[in-house]
Amino acid sequence: MKQIHFIGGGQMAEAMIRAVIANGVVPADHISVEDINEQRCELLTNRYGVTHAVEQKASLANADILVIAVRPQDDLAQVGESIQEFAGPETAVLSIVAGVTIEKLTGFIGENRPIIRVIPNTLTDTGFGYSGAALNKYAKKEQVDEFLNGFGKVLYLDEKLIDTFTGFGVAGPNYVYYFIESFADAGVLAGLSREQAWQVALENVAGSVVMLKKSGLHPRQLLDINNSAGGVGIHALYELNNSDFAAGLQRAVKSAVKRTTELGEESK
Ligand SMILES: NC(=O)c1ccc[n+]([C@@H]2O[C@H](COP(=O)([O-])OP(=O)(O)OC[C@H]3O[C@@H](n4cnc5c(N)ncnc54)[C@H](OP(=O)(O)O)[C@@H]3O)[C@@H](O)[C@H]2O)c1
Repeated sequence: MKQIHFIGGGQMAEAMIRAVIANGVVPADHISVEDINEQRCELLTNRYGVTHAVEQKASLANADILVIAVRPQDDLAQVGESIQEFAGPETAVLSIVAGVTIEKLTGFIGENRPIIRVIPNTLTDTGFGYSGAALNKYAKKEQVDEFLNGFGKVLYLDEKLIDTFTGFGVAGPNYVYYFIESFADAGVLAGLSREQAWQVALENVAGSVVMLKKSGLHPRQLLDINNSAGGVGIHALYELNNSDFAAGLQRAVKSAVKRTTELGEESK
């Protein structure tokens, strides 16, 4: 059973801790946390039973996976120095710090160490959603695969695709939330109560995903089955096409990817 140590115990660290414990992937007594904010450590200890790492040297030395979960503007140089001083050479250093590249992390923690740059998904409590992970040449998937699958699924990517993945995949739930909201509003506009429209919208989205997975069919094939000649479905589709629906969504993703890259540049 791997020992996991978090440097930084903020919101994202908590979401990951909550999920890996709830999913039985890492027991609480195999997780330690250090945070310059003592109250965060106390909260995480009380809430989840993880260890408040008072003795940093031992926690870093004992860890199989070190998770750097501080913000991009925090003192990464100091975090790197501690890792260089106390962590074993084989310890997997997993960073979730947005915009900080493997090259930059190497500068902080030194050459020859396994580094995994991860963009965590925000659906951690559900078991769905993909996190993105890029590995340097010293890191092996086996070192982190089980842990990463403890808070969703994981897509291993070349680092140059991380921004694309962030704007498309990690921002993904936002597009879906917005679609569901708009769809429920459409039901209300058409005359259903808010509650009726909401339940039907949720059920349609969840069921459509199951339908696609179960049937193995392309959406266009299912649309062909549902849309009879001159019927209801094809009339609705015609209006959606007129509304620039697909291109609007695609522009939104492109814009999110561009913004991810800009934020990464700004943090350099
Ligand atoms: N939230 C998300 O949805 C999300 C998604 C993807 C990636 N990320 C990335 O995840 C990272 C953490 O985000 P977050 O939302 O969890 O931030 P957060 O809630 O602000 O957590 C960061 C924590 O690290 C502590 N800290 C700062 N410097 C430290 C140090 N040298 N040693 C130990 N602890 C230190 C902070 O304490 P103080 O507050 O006292 O400074 C704070 O408690 C960020 O790099 C972010 O880019 C977040």
